[in-house]
Amino acid sequence: MKRLKIKEVLTGDQIGKEVLVKGWVRTKRGSKNVNFIALNDGSTINNLQVVVDVDKFGEELLKDINTSASLGITGDLVESQGSGQKVELNAKEIIIYGKADPDKYPIQPKRHTLEFLRENAHLRFRTATFSAVFRIRHAMAFAIHNYFNDKGFVYLHTPIITASDAEGAGQMFRVSTLDAKNPPLTEDGAIDFSQDFFGKPTNLTVSGQLEGELGATALGEIYTFGPTFRAENSNTTRHLAEFWMIEPEMAFYELVDNMDLAEEFLKYLIRYALDNCLDDLKFLSERLVNEEKDKPQDQRSMELIEKLNFVVSNDFVRCTYTEAVDILKNSKTCKAGKFQFPVEWGVDLQSEHERYLVEKHFKKPVILINYPKDIKAFYMKQNDDNKTVAAMDVLFPQIGEIIGGSQREEDLNKLETRMKEMHIPVEEMSWYLDTRRFGTVPHAGFGLGFERFILFVTGMGNIRDVIAFPRTPKNAEF
Ligand code: 4AD
Ligand code: MG
Repeated sequence: MKRLKIKEVLTGDQIGKEVLVKGWVRTKRGSKNVNFIALNDGSTINNLQVVVDVDKFGEELLKDINTSASLGITGDLVESQGSGQKVELNAKEIIIYGKADPDKYPIQPKRHTLEFLRENAHLRFRTATFSAVFRIRHAMAFAIHNYFNDKGFVYLHTPIITASDAEGAGQMFRVSTLDAKNPPLTEDGAIDFSQDFFGKPTNLTVSGQLEGELGATALGEIYTFGPTFRAENSNTTRHLAEFWMIEPEMAFYELVDNMDLAEEFLKYLIRYALDNCLDDLKFLSERLVNEEKDKPQDQRSMELIEKLNFVVSNDFVRCTYTEAVDILKNSKTCKAGKFQFPVEWGVDLQSEHERYLVEKHFKKPVILINYPKDIKAFYMKQNDDNKTVAAMDVLFPQIGEIIGGSQREEDLNKLETRMKEMHIPVEEMSWYLDTRRFGTVPHAGFGLGFERFILFVTGMGNIRDVIAFPRTPKNAEF
């Protein structure tokens, strides 16, 4: 018999028929005569209730059916007598694929902390929370490709190993096959990278943007979607050492076109989640309400689905960095000395400042533009005031910066001058500068941090809980 997924069985279309399902036991409860197994196969947050006649199958078999045991069950699908579910399966045949010893299996059917589940990340997919998170993550990845494909963007696979530091921030992981204990040295005692695998120092990429620009200035509009790596020692709930980034890059786009695209893109993805992941979102919404029930009213977050609808149906605020600094300096929070970090024109805004703007002041997502050139990367377009660049950061509630991007400097002279000022090796980047030498065009792009976005959509609080196997300082388990 052909196996059906539980998602399909739960629609009720098969009522009155015999079906075969396969999955893992979430819970088993019952009386002397009848047991109820909640079976889940990952296709949906909802479990299928299986009714088992104890006499028919015997205590011996039933004692091996514990949480996380894997089963194949054939039975008759009937309308459920109990409340809570539409259908249930009257078991006729049960195969146990694998037992799970309840004395040893770590994830019991009770409320575990997220910290505990992080330590057991290899098994946490078996919980309702994590299965919901990873189904949504999948749906969002799919929607991203859908969105760009519909708009005629080309998916460009940019390299993971690179010799250049796109962001110029020096936070790269070295890739080398040299003997770390005994590397070859040059005459003046430096490590001789000419003997390394690529004949020069190489690293894991922090961004696919520079190669993306090469693609965009011929294909028109491209996007990348891949892993990026940053060796920044930030042990926060919003930083990973390995994270995924989506980087569209568009020829003939100026800053305002870039902002329009970012806003439309984010709203498309959120709408897609609302339209396609509602069961999972409802579950995660309840989870959040539960988690925050002991917090005072004014510290609780907006209900998840309401929050997502709110973002989809409101325009993002667009505001310059200079205006934002004025707002922050004039805020009660600042005057009462309640920001941890100082605010002055010229400083990089901290997440407390970003969140103040979004959550307290504007109460909407914000696109901040025209940042001081000294806190931004070399490639950003220089504004006429000589002080700022055409940068844009999209700020979201609870997250802070979710997107960073800019219009790019397309003038070869200006770009070279800026690179020299910032000690970027112009010679080695000659390939990049060729885009400005031959048929240069105004162009722009941005990077969306995939995990930060998934945090927002799922309402989870820690970035380690929205990537399957998080890499953070001192942690590369599994
Ligand atoms: O602002 P960033 O550094 O921008 C770039 O890398 C540009 N090259 C993008 C572009 O214009 N094509 O990073 C982009 C986004 C951030 O807004 C943030 O959401 C995410 O990437 N991000 C991180 N996410 C998780 N962990 C980290 N350590 C992150 N660093 C950046
Ligand atoms: Mg940034």
